[in-house]
Amino acid sequence: MSSQEAINGFKELFGYEPSGVWSAPGRANLIGEHTDYNNGFVFPFGIDRRTYVALSTRKDMNVRISSSFADGVVEFELGKRKPKNLDWALYPLGIAWVMRQHACCGFDAYIISDVPVGAGLSSSAAIECAVAVALNDVWEAGIEPQKLALIGQEAENDVVGAPTGIMDQTASLLAKKDSAVLLDCKSLETELVPLGLDSQGLVVAVIDTKVAHRHSDGGYRVRREACEIGAKKMGVESLRELSEEDLPAAQEKLDDVTFRRCKHVITENRRVIAAVDALKRRDLATLGELLLQSHASMRDDFEISVTELDVAVELAMEVGAVGARMTGGGFGGSAIAIIDESKMELLTEHCKAVFAKKGFAETNVFAVAPSDGARREA
Ligand code: GLA
Repeated sequence: MSSQEAINGFKELFGYEPSGVWSAPGRANLIGEHTDYNNGFVFPFGIDRRTYVALSTRKDMNVRISSSFADGVVEFELGKRKPKNLDWALYPLGIAWVMRQHACCGFDAYIISDVPVGAGLSSSAAIECAVAVALNDVWEAGIEPQKLALIGQEAENDVVGAPTGIMDQTASLLAKKDSAVLLDCKSLETELVPLGLDSQGLVVAVIDTKVAHRHSDGGYRVRREACEIGAKKMGVESLRELSEEDLPAAQEKLDDVTFRRCKHVITENRRVIAAVDALKRRDLATLGELLLQSHASMRDDFEISVTELDVAVELAMEVGAVGARMTGGGFGGSAIAIIDESKMELLTEHCKAVFAKKGFAETNVFAVAPSDGARREA
């Protein structure tokens, strides 16, 4: 996928040259799941699968928007009303809506993407962030990347209607090659931590189980509510304020389900910090163990895994991964595994064979490289 493809698609559709091309990556989260909306810690990285938007301003306030992954052109007049019922077009139009105070003109846009949809790799944040950096440029809004991430989150919460946190957009905007982004979701402070996997012959493998998920549906929202109820009953603003020392008290005060939801978040925050520390010390054994503990916590306490994801993690470990866990919001999507590059073929074959035997959908297994965040391409 390239800028040129986006330019060609734009020209074919609209009959003139776009004024530029902007891109943003999907993300994989190494560790720190469902901690972002609890003011906790996350540790994602941008992947080498990107969304490109070729865009040009117009003289009126109209928007025409189209993509390689859906038929037709969506037309919309900016500023009059909030976009709704527009399916995938809500992601780009949601950004335009949230940025409307800067909207000095409409635009034509053509979007292409090789971030797999429904795989838990934030294809939606990649669209939002590519469009956000594009509009930030052409509308000369001068907004800093971290603020653009908040704009992306607002578009997703308020226009798309998914009650998601700030992780995906931050990763897509602030990611750097060969690094992951440690984000404190309370202060919004970030630290880029070099992964150094390459030099050890390691890669991050994605095992897309092809079990599709959507975060505007029930499960994600119910988990978020349970965390909020737990925090309230414990008398704190968010679960971030609690540590493992508070678990016995929480167990007394909360019903079993709410307790286990909170326990996941509280222990996961500790695991993120420990994982970053292990990575800095090049202690891969500890890092791998933390990934597995994170997965077990999501499977048993937060209950957002599915059988296919549990199997994917097991298969990765069987072929000798350092560690593995499901990534993203859960209820489907992908598992990630840190694994020796030379074992990728074995992993692919093993997943293929076992998933077929179990009657599951065929997996898509591929390596992802930590890549740069959103930027202007052309
Ligand atoms: C989705 C959301 C994120 C985050 C993860 C779970 O990807 O968009 O904000 O909550 O799920 O960690």
